[in-house]
Amino acid sequence: MSFLRFLHSLRFRISAVYDLFRSQQSFKTCCHGFCKTSGTLPIKPILKVLVTGASGYIGSHTAIDLLQHGHEVIGLDNYVNSSPRVFDRIEKISGKPCLSYQADLRDKDSLGRIFDAHPRLDAIMHFAALKSVDESVVHPDLYYENNVSGLINLIHFQKKHRVPRLIFSSSCTVYGNADQLPVTESTPWKQAESPYGLTKQLGEMILQDFTRHAGSMSCVSLRYFNPAGAHPGGHLGEAATKEVRNLIPLIMETGAGKRPFLSIYGNDYPTRDGTNVRDFIHIMDLARAHTLAMDYLGNLPAGTYEVFNLGTGRGVTILEAIEAFNRVRGEKLPVKWAGRRPGDVVAIYADYQKAKNLLGWQPAYTMEDIMAHAWAWEKNKSELIS
Ligand SMILES: NC(=O)c1ccc[n+]([C@@H]2O[C@H](COP(=O)([O-])OP(=O)(O)OC[C@H]3O[C@@H](n4cnc5c(N)ncnc54)[C@H](O)[C@@H]3O)[C@@H](O)[C@H]2O)c1
Repeated sequence: MSFLRFLHSLRFRISAVYDLFRSQQSFKTCCHGFCKTSGTLPIKPILKVLVTGASGYIGSHTAIDLLQHGHEVIGLDNYVNSSPRVFDRIEKISGKPCLSYQADLRDKDSLGRIFDAHPRLDAIMHFAALKSVDESVVHPDLYYENNVSGLINLIHFQKKHRVPRLIFSSSCTVYGNADQLPVTESTPWKQAESPYGLTKQLGEMILQDFTRHAGSMSCVSLRYFNPAGAHPGGHLGEAATKEVRNLIPLIMETGAGKRPFLSIYGNDYPTRDGTNVRDFIHIMDLARAHTLAMDYLGNLPAGTYEVFNLGTGRGVTILEAIEAFNRVRGEKLPVKWAGRRPGDVVAIYADYQKAKNLLGWQPAYTMEDIMAHAWAWEKNKSELIS
């Protein structure tokens, strides 16, 4: 760890020199394209990225992708649904130091101090939010405050410190029960099914408007389908401190004997086997898309706002997902049929052509990979994060 800290301080000194150079237009030109004057190859700049919700599930895997692509990560989290120990995992897997702050987005003073300490941020990746649909129905005010006020505080400092790029975690929940499948980015939104879903719709609307009026900033909203799986080594995965209600972690807990059986909600949907259809996207494919979205914004004029679907384009039924897990584990998972749950969308999967064409992004992992990596993590996680 102390060696990592040493590297970290060295890295800060190097990036301070880089900051100095960066303020000169000639260097900027060299960084972003072939340097015409010297004829040298382009230098890929090291970007300083503030990652909110960095110890959460998607934020932590994205931090690894950023660090492994040479960027500098400044992590922020209030640990309402994660542990500070996740930062040790990020450093261990990436082999790079990762700065971390405990702070709540609703607390403007703490947020302001972090921005003051890092005056030359290149980008913000905004993951920090509460994400439970059920909890949001019981405490809608908490969700508006955390997810919407938190976002407004963040963009206040983004504007003040002129941070040019922001990547926002949105969700396929903005589409609701879509009329056509697969959904494209222009598929019309339905009324939000929950206060959580509403906070994603509002977040996108605020950012689109903000980008148009604030002038010097650009933004990408990424609409995730069903993020799942873990880092391929099985040394990092979802480690929520609140109760998890997503299918894949529930399958893992049942496989590990922490639950006697898995409940399947509904067997009479108009799908090929009667169960819901979802689009499971491997967490490292998702993480990769964030770094690519950040690069993409770097090539476009300020004021750009874009939205991308991130899914595999493959609809998988709940039964097919369980069968994939059974193949990985070599044993049948105990299941019980239960009635339909209110608010469950029948089927949804993504058209990701836009991300493919504009970001050069394509999912690489299969459903079996998702299950194998999640299962490896399930077996390691109590030892690695407590
Ligand atoms: N996981 C999914 O299935 C999914 C799907 C679509 C969209 N999203 C969105 O992606 C983002 C990340 O999701 P995740 O699965 O990693 O969730 P997560 O709960 O694992 O991570 C979110 C992190 O943000 C932190 N946080 C929450 N409120 C905060 C606040 N006010 N200040 C500081 N930190 C705060 C939590 O402690 C947590 O570590 C969220 O915005 C979520 O709504 C997730």
